[in-house]
Amino acid sequence: MLHRLKYDWSLWARPEQRPPEGDWDFWLYLAGRGTGKTRSAAEEAKLRAAVPETRIAVVGPTHGVVRDVCIEGRSGILSVTPPDMIEKYNRSLGQVWLKNGSVYFGYSSTEPDRLRGPEHHFAWFEEFAAHRYPQEVFDMAVMGLRLGDHPQGVITTTPRPIPTLKAIMADPSTVITRGRTLDNAKNLPLSTMRYLLRRFAGSTLGRQELDGEMLEDIEGALWRRRWIDRDRVNRFAGIDEYGMPTLFQLPQMLTICIGVDPAVTSGEDADETGIVVVGLDYEGVVWVLDDLSMRGTSAQWAQEVARAYKRYGADVVVAERNNGGDMVEETLRRAYRWIPVKPVWASEGKKTRAQPVASMYEKAGTVRHVGSFPELEDQMCSWDPRDAGKANKASPDRMDALVWAVHYITESVYGGGLVIPDPDARIPKH
Ligand SMILES: Nc1ncnc2c1ncn2[C@@H]1O[C@H](COP(=O)(O)OP(=O)(O)OP(=O)(O)O)[C@@H](O)[C@H]1O
Ligand SMILES: [Mg+2]
Repeated sequence: MLHRLKYDWSLWARPEQRPPEGDWDFWLYLAGRGTGKTRSAAEEAKLRAAVPETRIAVVGPTHGVVRDVCIEGRSGILSVTPPDMIEKYNRSLGQVWLKNGSVYFGYSSTEPDRLRGPEHHFAWFEEFAAHRYPQEVFDMAVMGLRLGDHPQGVITTTPRPIPTLKAIMADPSTVITRGRTLDNAKNLPLSTMRYLLRRFAGSTLGRQELDGEMLEDIEGALWRRRWIDRDRVNRFAGIDEYGMPTLFQLPQMLTICIGVDPAVTSGEDADETGIVVVGLDYEGVVWVLDDLSMRGTSAQWAQEVARAYKRYGADVVVAERNNGGDMVEETLRRAYRWIPVKPVWASEGKKTRAQPVASMYEKAGTVRHVGSFPELEDQMCSWDPRDAGKANKASPDRMDALVWAVHYITESVYGGGLVIPDPDARIPKH
């Protein structure tokens, strides 16, 4: 009996956690962190999977999220499905097979081309606004959503004003429910609540991350979303005449630099270490190639930096040397002696440093992002210089790492400090 109650979502769900009645194509659950988004989508997918032979696409930002959150997580498919219904779980493929013949197929938004071909009855897009290539992945998935009388999908996400999401919201066949972190407080561990409130309460970003509001331009911020959107390139440039995805070719880079803004402490409450990869091409265009920022020990982020250095064929690591003293240089030099590290000092205020980089973005065609970097872009478009140094404000580490890298490569080239290498230099692997 108890066993059955646990799996009966109709007993537990709040009204906004179930799709509205009616004839919709997509149900969008737009809500703050910890609201119960993942659980709601997993439960809805479970209802669909109860019909034998149903094929369900589960599309997450990365393979790791699909496996660790959508399938194995505490709100994921394996935890909402009674074990006696499961036939097998193929972990490496990210596929769950049920005894009734229904199957969940996991996909990562980093590989939209994998979605080309397979057909589904239902699709779940998890944390959609965190996808690196949201438009491509949505287009591909919708093309394959063609089984049954009325294929449908659920999109769960914290809101971000990205064009693809705004278009989905404006579509009359989309239904939207909304929610706030506090709505689900009684089901969240105290530590999670404490962390979220400490990080976001009272800040502008908190309206997005906790209250699930869609924030447009924020007064006082140095960057505008539309500047980044205007010059963004997507890895998947389009569909060719045979229906195959075509890839965007990055130009050759004159130089590639990794900006690092290290967290001084580590542990659960520590700041993130900003790690951003930036290239400069032969036309003088700056390319933001990757955001690998992370929370972790100095050994962990040093390893991440070293990996990025190799993978992108970078020339130099520019690292802020502030409270941590020589920590960055030392950490990197000790473990990875071959990496050239250029320490930089925060002698001016953050705003003085960031403003010229923001002005570059304002000028069309000067700085281009390869895909979306949601958290980096959130920091750029919400950080208000008037908050600098205030206690209780999360520090914009990703933005700092970006600013250091852009300064370094543009100054070293235009300031004459850089010897221009052979033009048959490498094209970054991406
Ligand atoms: N109506 C509910 N009744 C009981 N527990 C719930 C309910 N809704 C959500 N939960 C539980 O709350 C916790 C958080 O839910 P979930 O992981 O789905 O949130 P989320 O919005 O996806 O969070 P995040 O922003 O971290 O991705 C989970 O343990 C989930 O099972
Ligand atoms: Mg979730």
